[in-house]
Amino acid sequence: MAESMKGLKRTCRCGEVTKANVGEKVTLMGWVQKNRNKGGLIFVDLRDRSGIMQIIFENGKCSDEIFAKAGKLRSEFVIAVTGTVQLRSGAVNENLATGALEVVAEDLRILSESETPPFPIEENSKTREEVRLKYRSLDLRRPDLQRNLILRSKVAMLTRQFLDKEGFLEIETPMLTKSTPEGARDYLVPSRIHPGSFYALPQSPQLFKQLLMCSGYDRYMQIARCFRDEDLRADRQPEFTQIDMELAFVDVEDVIDVNERLLAYLFHELLGVEVSLPIQRMTWQEAMDRFGSDKPDLRFGMELKDVSDVVRDSEFAVFRNALEAGGSVRGINAKGQGGMPRKKIDKLVEFAKGYGAKGLAYIAVQEDGTCKSSFAKFMTEDQMKQLVQAMDGEPGDLLLFAADKTKMVWNVLGALRLELAEQMDLIDKNEYRFVWITEFPLLEWSEEENRYTAMHHPFTMPMDEDIPLLDTDPGAVRAKAYDIVLNGSEIGGGSVRIHQNDIQEKMFEMLGFTKEQAHSQFGFLLEAFRYGVPPHAGLAYGLDRLVMEMAKIDNIRDVIAFPKVKDASCLMTEAPSPVDPAQLEELGLKIETAAEPEA
Ligand code: AMO
Ligand code: AMP
Repeated sequence: MAESMKGLKRTCRCGEVTKANVGEKVTLMGWVQKNRNKGGLIFVDLRDRSGIMQIIFENGKCSDEIFAKAGKLRSEFVIAVTGTVQLRSGAVNENLATGALEVVAEDLRILSESETPPFPIEENSKTREEVRLKYRSLDLRRPDLQRNLILRSKVAMLTRQFLDKEGFLEIETPMLTKSTPEGARDYLVPSRIHPGSFYALPQSPQLFKQLLMCSGYDRYMQIARCFRDEDLRADRQPEFTQIDMELAFVDVEDVIDVNERLLAYLFHELLGVEVSLPIQRMTWQEAMDRFGSDKPDLRFGMELKDVSDVVRDSEFAVFRNALEAGGSVRGINAKGQGGMPRKKIDKLVEFAKGYGAKGLAYIAVQEDGTCKSSFAKFMTEDQMKQLVQAMDGEPGDLLLFAADKTKMVWNVLGALRLELAEQMDLIDKNEYRFVWITEFPLLEWSEEENRYTAMHHPFTMPMDEDIPLLDTDPGAVRAKAYDIVLNGSEIGGGSVRIHQNDIQEKMFEMLGFTKEQAHSQFGFLLEAFRYGVPPHAGLAYGLDRLVMEMAKIDNIRDVIAFPKVKDASCLMTEAPSPVDPAQLEELGLKIETAAEPEA
């Protein structure tokens, strides 16, 4: 039995009622969180997105009919209540903003009844995520998710306001387009009118924003949806949102300047956190050498040390082989962990192997200064001493070493450093630690493809002084590229773009594109570059990741209203799903095999 709200108007939201409203009549509408019947009194917690208000139905203060109706209320019924605000007669609930207030009801309408929901609507739900995602509309009623989405909305809103004041124009770019390579697979959309031809959903608006610079729009921004068919992780979704921007007539410093002020503005306005400017900068090389990562978490130390020179003469084959193959030996010092039981150290070795290490060598420095080690027998006492010294090892420390190709060593120790910091509880979770990572390599050698790939994307400008190296030592060329990292998460990245056709053509050549391939894929960009291109640069944030970091959440799905799960499906809509054969026919498509989805 659903009643209409005819003649009724909501006066405010539950959480908006304050002590100033005591004595006033209000009409609230929302969902029944819970109800308790205590004989002559019925208490109802009424919930909307702003909070919870306690409603009291008291026999005598409302009609018998209303009192009887209140007795029928159940969780998640949608109701409208009219009553008078008063100070709570019973115990004050310190946990609620409205905990000192209640509304004495005179009128009640049941706007919609509810079946028993499959799980209770509560903060920090213990219900399995798969169940919650299947019933996402219920899950989204939970206050924690509502807080996240409200924060997300505010980040987007304030970003628009800030960038508007800075002279940016918001311009939309197409979703049905041609491949914009950002290193992932494309999502393709078949064309009905051109059978056998496909649109690609954009991996980012990259090419379009560059074209807008060619067209003189000068400063562009867009809160843009991007699509990437790549393996999902805790901070990756196949469709996600960027705060995307591009600026003409600028260099690195200009992009960094406007973005530092944007970040400081958002953190001040939304979290009351003061970001001290300028934000620290670190070159990619330094980040890798010191932290084994291009997105270092600087909230704690435990830096990597290169001990290759110290162990160069040792007999330990693991070290020797790595060094002879051109790799390195590096270590980290887990302070005070020297007493770690063997079993736990073995777990660390397994962890390292999970990242591709062949093993992990260790020294546990004992309280008496002697060493327990997995490789002491291959070392002289003196070499051992030097190694401990090089690692600043003190009694009680655990020193862990990886020997391999340097890229692998960085990767393994970088991950181990984070794992140990968690185990040792070294991270101050209240901190917001920003760093710009600059001077990324322009190119990255892909063993798989046996060619160079662009580390950022193919439109990124090499550093001026490194341009001559393009012909002699491409791997050593640094790019005018920068990432903004917050607490170990890459929240954004960008670069100065190539605006000269000859350098752009050269870049395509380095990436193994033939002239024909480059022109068939990016001809429209190269064409535009013939008619006057301003120097330009830009950056894009992952909005989802930015909100995750701001809200201190480690699951990207918790900041997205309708996210996908690990196999890129949506548990609520059951997308992707097979389509009608007639639709396939119309598109000129035939399904050869209904392949099992990848695990
Ligand atoms: P990039 O590929 O670094 O740069 O992307 C920019 C930012 O987007 C976020 N991000 C993601 N977030 C969630 N799920 C994903 N699958 C995902 N992939 C990326 C990251 C990342 O820092 N066009 C360039 C930007 C530019 O050069 O201006 C680009 O897309 O936070
Ligand atoms: P092994 O000679 O393989 O028994 O290894 C001796 C010790 O060195 C063990 O503690 C291994 O975990 C460790 N180890 C093996 N390979 C590596 C490597 N690439 N880097 C660091 N330690 C390793």
